[in-house]
Amino acid sequence: MGFKEELGRRKTFGIISHPDAGKTTLTEKLLLFGGAIQTAGAVKSNKIKKSATSDFMDIERQRGISVATSVMAFDYRGKKINILDTPGHQDFQEDTFRTLTAVDSVIVVIDVAKGVETQTEKLVKVCRMRDTPIIVFINKMDREGKDGFDLLDELETKLGLLVRPLSWPVGMGRDFQGVYNLYERKLVLFNPHGKQTGDVFEINDLDSTELDERVGEKAANTLREEITMIDEIYPDFEKEDYLEGLLSPVFFGSAINNFGVKELLDCFVDIAPTPLPRITEERKVLPNEDKFSGFVFKIHANMDPKHRDRIAFLRICSGTFERNTNYFHVRQERKMKFSNPTSFMAAKKSIVEQAYPGDVIGLYDSGNFKIGDSLTEGEELNFKGIPSFSPEQFRYVVNKDPLKSKQLAKGLTQLMDEGVAQLFYREFNNRKIIGTVGALQFDVIQYRLKHEYGASCAYEPVNLHKACWIECKDEVKLKEFLSRRKRDMATDKDGNHVFLAESAWTLNMAQENFPDVKFHFTSEF
Ligand code: G4P
Repeated sequence: MGFKEELGRRKTFGIISHPDAGKTTLTEKLLLFGGAIQTAGAVKSNKIKKSATSDFMDIERQRGISVATSVMAFDYRGKKINILDTPGHQDFQEDTFRTLTAVDSVIVVIDVAKGVETQTEKLVKVCRMRDTPIIVFINKMDREGKDGFDLLDELETKLGLLVRPLSWPVGMGRDFQGVYNLYERKLVLFNPHGKQTGDVFEINDLDSTELDERVGEKAANTLREEITMIDEIYPDFEKEDYLEGLLSPVFFGSAINNFGVKELLDCFVDIAPTPLPRITEERKVLPNEDKFSGFVFKIHANMDPKHRDRIAFLRICSGTFERNTNYFHVRQERKMKFSNPTSFMAAKKSIVEQAYPGDVIGLYDSGNFKIGDSLTEGEELNFKGIPSFSPEQFRYVVNKDPLKSKQLAKGLTQLMDEGVAQLFYREFNNRKIIGTVGALQFDVIQYRLKHEYGASCAYEPVNLHKACWIECKDEVKLKEFLSRRKRDMATDKDGNHVFLAESAWTLNMAQENFPDVKFHFTSEF
């Protein structure tokens, strides 16, 4: 198969949801369809128990599972589907944000009983910022839940999506009989105790009496009314609108019963985008360019603390990646060659000889990579859209073992490169502050510093509300701001100015008093 064919058959996406909506179950069913796994239960949930605040075994277990399930690839109807895993726990949300930079589309899973939940709102917001095409799957239709139209309203109001149902449930919970597939005009009947998929009937004309025979007169009439309403209220489905991120098709089903999943997958394969261009600071990179380029969106420490090597996950953006070939590490300005580039598939690893745009490969690394780094054939390209987010929890970090200060510094740098947290250097008192999105990271850092670097750290409280990156075009005004707010200033890992606001009020005051200074909540603005 040539490069063009390889490119044209790749579809790389992520599944996002609030924990427990059914992401793991859906992933597993998709892999079963693709023949990538043979039995249910092969995909381990990467969830950390909700009660866990500092359960290290859980953290370690999660790290192990997430390496194994980082990318799950399978073939289906001639396409190569790459599912990139996104951590479920909200303290690892930043990982998910970064993974979303490496996908070309997403499937959002919603629990029919719970509707749109907070974590889904945040994640969809990031996708919408980038116009990522979104398909919605409403799960657990075998249970009682919210009304279909109310859910569509929620998708519009809470997620800001313009939606179009492409399947519609016939009943729900105990009365759930199946879905009407509006994409292919077929009735698919639910058979909870039977085969993997229910019986399928082609019913183009909903007025036909066959519908009454299949689902009963009452349900048939309700379905007719509802489909008429859908056709009146919602826009027609246009693939182009979906690809531009303007319109999201909605499917209903039950992942655990493998119901409605095939309809979702068949439509996904038809409509989901092939690898999309990526923006760099220098120019737009098209996937069909001859020359290879890619960026690192995730770094994982190896599970074995004795070998401090790590795996950097690289998304290929253009050209063909070849094993044992010299590539240019743009930030380090040097050539590197990889003898064991790896693909991961539900705990199975294999060496990749070649990889194409849309693919993700794991590169063994002894500390050369940071999140956001790019590899090319020589061109200077810096991929955009992999920002650090303003952390929300802060602590001073203190070295508890003066003899191990080198180890501590090294450990901290490497953990920050992995994106576990962010380190700020506060100028006026020469102290280091760690900022994280979730509280769990503080425990992760302490634990990993000890086990992987032999360093001990403690934390001291620091009263902070937000860290914002600042920007000011006027040099004089910037200098004035920096000197007046000296006590609130810090620098990030790249030496950028960061304003540490003690409260929402101080942030407001600073914004009012210095109208020329812009306060940003992500490092990339
Ligand atoms: P997550 O990755 O999004 O966190 O969710 P996961 O797939 O682990 O599913 C969460 C729970 O919801 C699981 O139950 C799973 O079996 C159940 N579930 C998934 N899809 C459906 C569905 O279509 N209908 C119903 N009724 N339940 C569904 P659990 O009790 O937490 O775990 P388990 O013991 O079943 O593994």
